[in-house]
Amino acid sequence: MLAPSVLSADFAYLQRDIQMLNDSAAHWLHIDIMDGTFVPNISFGLPVCKAIQKHATKPMDVHLMIVNPDQYLRAFQEAGAASISVHYEACTHLHRTVQFIKDLGCKAGVAINPHTPVSLLKDIIKDLDLVCLMSVNPGFGGQKFIENTYNKTTELKNLILQQNSHALIEIDGGVNSQNAIPLLKAGADVLVAGNFVFSSQNPTQTIQELCSQMATLKASKHD
Ligand code: DX5
Ligand code: ZN
Repeated sequence: MLAPSVLSADFAYLQRDIQMLNDSAAHWLHIDIMDGTFVPNISFGLPVCKAIQKHATKPMDVHLMIVNPDQYLRAFQEAGAASISVHYEACTHLHRTVQFIKDLGCKAGVAINPHTPVSLLKDIIKDLDLVCLMSVNPGFGGQKFIENTYNKTTELKNLILQQNSHALIEIDGGVNSQNAIPLLKAGADVLVAGNFVFSSQNPTQTIQELCSQMATLKASKHD
């Protein structure tokens, strides 16, 4: 699946860009929330999320790069989140936070920074619907993909299979047409792409091309 990141949209033409995503082959809309404390950047918050909800026809995949996420979970659910990912590094009582997300009726995700080992998810993996592997240091769009993400993807896939977890693997940061297929081969299920999509000449076509690459790989696996 492909989840274009709205962070790279043109905020002055947000409705136009959401409509473009609605009409495209994209599966989810990835919504990056940054608080200027957990990450060194501020993106946008609840009012913008609610405004996106009014127009979006695809699931909103909310990535919270914020401290104290618990106090905002209900508000993001009400603002349209279908899935909510919190950062492992921002949660002291991660199990409680994950249960809270599920009680709200959202898919529960945990994101881990590039330096955080996959093995730390061992005792929570069965409770998760989604693991977001950060393939850049969170905070900004348009950064360079960190190559060690391939190893982490393979390791996470093995952990998921060992523990019979249904969690999907999402890769976030620096995704492009070069690394998309190797990531899927390593076990990724969802690719986030911001800059690669929105800075291209024709974002709809870029989404279409990424999605058809992914579909071709999937079809070949079933042969
Ligand atoms: C980074 C964000 C990403 C970002 C991805 O902190 O979590 O979702 O928008 O953007 P690109 O694809 O431009 O790296
Ligand atoms: Zn993100």
